[in-house]
Amino acid sequence: MSGIFRRDTDRDWETLGANQPYWGVYTHPDFVGQQSLDSEKRATFFESGESFIPWLRASLEQRLGAPAEIGAALDFGCGVGRLLIPMAKRATRAVGVDSSAGMRERCAAHLAEAGLSNASVVASLDEVKGAFDWVNSYIVLQHIEPKRGYGFIERLSALTARGGSLTLHVTTGRDAHLRGPSWLKAPQQAIAHLLHHLLAKPGLIMMYDYDLARVIALLTRDGFGPMYLEPLNHGGHHSVIIHTRKIG
Ligand SMILES: C[S@@+](CC[C@H](N)C(=O)[O-])C[C@H]1O[C@@H](n2cnc3c(N)ncnc32)[C@H](O)[C@@H]1O
Repeated sequence: MSGIFRRDTDRDWETLGANQPYWGVYTHPDFVGQQSLDSEKRATFFESGESFIPWLRASLEQRLGAPAEIGAALDFGCGVGRLLIPMAKRATRAVGVDSSAGMRERCAAHLAEAGLSNASVVASLDEVKGAFDWVNSYIVLQHIEPKRGYGFIERLSALTARGGSLTLHVTTGRDAHLRGPSWLKAPQQAIAHLLHHLLAKPGLIMMYDYDLARVIALLTRDGFGPMYLEPLNHGGHHSVIIHTRKIG
């Protein structure tokens, strides 16, 4: 599909970062339209990251022999810091990347509130240099058109140090009720669907599926070894978290 038929998802996330920073990350009714969270909601929101990160680390360490000590860690699509904060607590240094200014602003504030001076946030992977002992991206690539997303995966792969770990979440398919109308069976609905995606005002959350075989081939080419795949089903959107280490 040519450029004019593509949704500008960065613009969507710019809007979501400004208007729906917490709901954009955690689509629970409690967080709709919230610009700041009361202590109970805040605890629920950040606890979801505080429990997720130890689970990922345990998998990397127990299944793949990753060392418990983490030097540099990178979180691509860090949002307001839900995962970056617990990553920074465990690493010597942590970097978050997020294209949305509103998300970055809140993320930086949350890092400061947590007293984490070893972590920083930047707007683009182009600004990130060096090799990281742990690279993570969760519920991010699913919102980025795959043609572009495969490029981000290549960059994340290149930024992983030899011996380093990668936890990468990619959406691979969806239940029938979540698929768009068929161009062959329902061409008018398919056109209406496409027009909605092109013309809806900024702030839409797009979902895209990736070719898992292509992602695995790319990582294998770049020297990643054994992989553990954790399948997830988020309301009919099927995905995997690839847990792997670069050995070559
Ligand atoms: C659903 S949120 C997930 C945030 C975080 N990973 C978490 O689990 O808490 C998706 C994030 O990806 C970011 N994002 C979307 N497109 C991006 C891009 N092209 N580059 C960097 N970040 C992007 C959004 O701004 C948003 O903060």
